[in-house]
Amino acid sequence: MRILIHEEKERMAKWIAYYVAAKINKAAGESDKPYVLGLPTGSSPILVYKELVTLHKEGKVSFKNVVTFNMDEYVGISEDHPQSYHYFMNENFFDFIDIPAENINILDGNADDLEVECAYYEAKIESFGGIDLFLGGIGPDGHIAFNEPGSSLTSKTRIKTLTHDTKVANSRFFNNDIKQVPSIALTVGVGTVMAAKEVLVIVNGYNKARALQQAVEEGVNHMWTISMLQLHPKGMICCDDESTMELKVGTVNYFKDIEGNQIANLPVVEQEVIVA
Ligand code: GLP
Repeated sequence: MRILIHEEKERMAKWIAYYVAAKINKAAGESDKPYVLGLPTGSSPILVYKELVTLHKEGKVSFKNVVTFNMDEYVGISEDHPQSYHYFMNENFFDFIDIPAENINILDGNADDLEVECAYYEAKIESFGGIDLFLGGIGPDGHIAFNEPGSSLTSKTRIKTLTHDTKVANSRFFNNDIKQVPSIALTVGVGTVMAAKEVLVIVNGYNKARALQQAVEEGVNHMWTISMLQLHPKGMICCDDESTMELKVGTVNYFKDIEGNQIANLPVVEQEVIVA
């Protein structure tokens, strides 16, 4: 697992956006197959989406041949609810890029049969040959998507009950009223994320420090589902200095030493891609 420690989150977001754009353009140069992106919500990816929108406006990346699958969605709030992940994605990303509406996939938390919806989602991912790059964030309890502590590390897309911890953490988006936070969500599984060809997890801020420590320095453990990334052949965590506060000095120095050159410059976004 690669750990790229950036000094601050703004520059980190830019680096990640360039990394994603470079991947999309490289894939476009190699085949007509859509590039399949897994996407998160939450505050962690917001700056990344902003930078990707800028890159798009500058004509450096097109999303016309990109297919997206979001990680999760609440159950029981409407798609136009300001805290639904449908709403979030439109407001922060999709409304500002050239992705065709039919290429966007987000779990339907209001489906008549939630289990069928989850199975359909998983099958649809497979129909595209799997996810090329899954971007993710983590909760303070180390959850990835909504895979709360104790989730099966081989789980697939399914219905999950949210923990008290997560409801408290997410209540900041619901007028700080935990009662307004939905108790149930649909989420891709840890196994769904692990099946992606590449996974990049965004971690910033001191409130993620314990989770990062568990993910990096402790063993694989279902109580910190992000720790499963240790078993991924192409797993990468991009984190800011603040989130490394619980890591050993030696761990931080080690990763700064081996990855320092990688983050010194932005990834090269090779070519402008014009998709007819
Ligand atoms: C929610 C989402 C996760 C996200 C997490 C962290 O629980 N389901 O996918 O990673 O929040 O959010 P933030 O980035 O706002 O800290």
